[in-house]
Amino acid sequence: MTATAATDLPLWPPASLDHGPFVLLDEEQRRSLDGPVTRVRLPTGNRAWLVTRHADVRHLLRHPGFSADLERPGFPLLRPLSPLSEEDRQGGFIRMDGDAHARLRRMLTAEFMIKSVRRIEPLIERTVDAALDDLAAAGPPADLVEAFALPVPSMVICHLLGVPYAEHAFFQARSRTLLDRTAPPQRVRAEVRQLRAYVRDLVERRQAAADDDADDLISRLVRDRVRTGQLGVDELVGMALLLLVAGHETTANMIGLSTLLLLREPGRLDALREEPERAPALVEELLRYLSVVRTGLPRVATEDVEIGGRLIRAGEGVIAVLSLANRDPEVFATPDEFDPYQQAHQHLSFGFGVHQCIGQPLARAELRIALVALARRFPGLRTAATPERVPTRDTSVVFGLDSLPVTW
Ligand code: HEM
Repeated sequence: MTATAATDLPLWPPASLDHGPFVLLDEEQRRSLDGPVTRVRLPTGNRAWLVTRHADVRHLLRHPGFSADLERPGFPLLRPLSPLSEEDRQGGFIRMDGDAHARLRRMLTAEFMIKSVRRIEPLIERTVDAALDDLAAAGPPADLVEAFALPVPSMVICHLLGVPYAEHAFFQARSRTLLDRTAPPQRVRAEVRQLRAYVRDLVERRQAAADDDADDLISRLVRDRVRTGQLGVDELVGMALLLLVAGHETTANMIGLSTLLLLREPGRLDALREEPERAPALVEELLRYLSVVRTGLPRVATEDVEIGGRLIRAGEGVIAVLSLANRDPEVFATPDEFDPYQQAHQHLSFGFGVHQCIGQPLARAELRIALVALARRFPGLRTAATPERVPTRDTSVVFGLDSLPVTW
């Protein structure tokens, strides 16, 4: 069955902790949807199919008949795009398909496997403890985003890549622009180029240093892949840039929002302190409920594919709405409630299929370690503003908070 009509959707209603990000529609809007696979008009004027059921999202994301390349005709752009040059696109494997994607991703898989992440847990712990020491020394009140949620994942990814954290203001501000759907396309493009020039300079310094003992990821890739002719410098620049941006912004938002959600109900932080062994399951429910990748995952069909009883034609755009798939009553017992005891591990917040988040073991470890340490060190932690008044960030493609005022 195909449908020609397209509903205008408020794709970015103000995000809220309870209604969730993206198109988590109210009851009436949900009823007005033309089934679980619905044709919509995007704010850019493009049309796309919204895919909202858990099973359909999985089917779509592992189907080889969809492309993640946003330069392809029909790709459902969520904001106007200023095209990037061939050089500026190199290495950004999140937007590549097939063998080109697999070749670059494979060079990183061992780095982010669970057992590799176990080795860096002491680094995460030290980073978390140092941030909490500084927070305690500065005394209340504090902005938990600025003092904890943002620096912890930024410091960890900087350390892994070999990027100087002292330069965080530069790359954090530009990463934020990349994710801001309201930023003018020319500005996005200019800041991508600035970031690339910055990372290229780091890579070139590693090449010149020829330091065979340096153990950061960029140095290792220079040594093992660039010098051996398996990887181009522009490709390495794009890969490192992707890791730098993807590696801090999403996790930072998860730490900030999770803290707010836990603080909103008395006893939740105490429970985490008393039963830290439950933290991994709690983290899964936080990932499910908050679904921070607010815009869902866009793709374009490269062949005719049937999804959820609808025929998606080659050249048509689709959006896998992770936040709705994460609230599918077929899969989750209490989909619209935050339930720390819910079996949430089937959530799709890290995506699915070949592009499934490569950093998920790292993100899980960071979230678990950060939240447990926070609960232990600050038993009296509370929000300094009414939780409902803490504004969520509405212009980013990643759901989050700009600040979280706390006291203790
Ligand atoms: C809670 C934190 C995180 C969330 C919710 C998240 C979410 C996602 C999602 C949904 C995708 C799939 C994109 C797609 O299919 O189009 C993805 C891909 C990716 N993520 Fe994450 N991510 C997180 C943390 C991280 C971290 C810490 C890193 C750094 C190591 C990272 C690096 C990547 C990379 C490189 C990709 C592209 C993978 C590919 O295309 O093969 N992410 N992430």
